[in-house]
Amino acid sequence: MATNRTFTMIKPDAVANGHIGAILNDIIAGGFKIVAMKYIQLSNETAGNFYAVHKERPFYGELVSFMTSGPIVAAILEKDNAVEDFRTLIGATNPADAAEGTIRNKYAKSIDANAIHGSDSDENAAIEGNFFFSQFERF
Ligand code: PPS
Repeated sequence: MATNRTFTMIKPDAVANGHIGAILNDIIAGGFKIVAMKYIQLSNETAGNFYAVHKERPFYGELVSFMTSGPIVAAILEKDNAVEDFRTLIGATNPADAAEGTIRNKYAKSIDANAIHGSDSDENAAIEGNFFFSQFERF
């Protein structure tokens, strides 16, 4: 059964381009409640561990390097059917394929700098939320 929480990061490109406020507006307008949030810069070690599941993929080094290139906003979001609805809100991984009006369609330029992360399963949403937030840092 789908759970009601997902995990997101507003990535360094979207932060650097001044889109934090607009993206948070879209998230809230999409019916999501923010239950945890922090503004941080990832170290190589932290980003490497977070994306360890993609270690064998050809873009792993580039992805880790990009995700450490500037600050990010990490958050846990709550809504019915959160994981699936959030993936719909952000659009396809490659912004060129992202539906009109989605966050990646509006704010991302390329597949390697695609503005925002959204968990791909309920299991990963819980793992990723726990990776970034302690029980005292979420509502
Ligand atoms: S997804 O969204 O997880 O289903 O997409 P996936 O294709 O599995 O990609 C996993 C993460 O890698 C990022 N990605 C890339 N980074 C750099 N270069 C290339 N070519 C590339 N392709 C995919 C993609 O944005 C996913 O990161 P997150 O943070 O999960 O969005």
